[in-house]
Amino acid sequence: MEIYVVPDAPATGVIAAGILAAVVRSKPNAVLGIATGSSPIPVYKALAAHGLDMSQVRAFALDEYVGLRAGHPQSYAEVVRREVTEQLGLDPARVAVPDGGAADPHQAAVNYDAAIREAGGIDVQLLGIGHNGHIAFNEPGSELDSRTRVEVLADRTRQANARYFRSLEDVPTRCITQGLGTILEARQLLMVVRGADKAEVLAAALSGPVSPDCPGSVLQLHPHVTVVADQAAAMHLGACNAQVRVQIATPSP
Ligand code: GLP
Repeated sequence: MEIYVVPDAPATGVIAAGILAAVVRSKPNAVLGIATGSSPIPVYKALAAHGLDMSQVRAFALDEYVGLRAGHPQSYAEVVRREVTEQLGLDPARVAVPDGGAADPHQAAVNYDAAIREAGGIDVQLLGIGHNGHIAFNEPGSELDSRTRVEVLADRTRQANARYFRSLEDVPTRCITQGLGTILEARQLLMVVRGADKAEVLAAALSGPVSPDCPGSVLQLHPHVTVVADQAAAMHLGACNAQVRVQIATPSP
């Protein structure tokens, strides 16, 4: 595992975008795993600035709410369209988000898992982490080998995401999420974390026990992981084991 500690959120974007850009340069038809939440926003901004030819790139989102109306501005389909597809100049036909409006969301989840496999798997999966250790929408208690499925959102996750909705009641209670086992099949994982409020959970994920109690701890099971954290999020990483290479990086503007 490689950890980059950078001064601030824009710098997390620059470093992570450099890693994604290198993947796309070496494989113009790369399959990117894309994430929502606030942490990846600077990554997409910085990646757009690379001006790469993204016409052959495919992308799969991690998750989606179940039950929002089509076109709801906070559905991840819309967030991905605004923040990723349009900014990066991706072909919308090559960008997939789980179908949270499907009549049978369980079947939609199974189909999504199969579609990732049929695309040849994900080359690099971008991730954030939630305060309770969730990655994608795999809440504490998720099986380490879980597949894409319908999940019930934890209260803490709904509270954290209420900032995007008019009220807590408007936040959906269910979602479709790639499973931890699905995520672990990506050839490379790239986690972006920022803020002092994530420092404890980041340290728990990277150096605590690998357990469903902290879904982000599955990173320890993957052979090719890069974590990009700002200084505030990295403040408890001192206790990480010796296999972790921490680099202090200051990207040039
Ligand atoms: C959301 C997403 C996750 C994301 C997490 C943290 O619920 N489903 O993919 O990593 O919350 O979001 P943020 O980066 O805004 O803290």
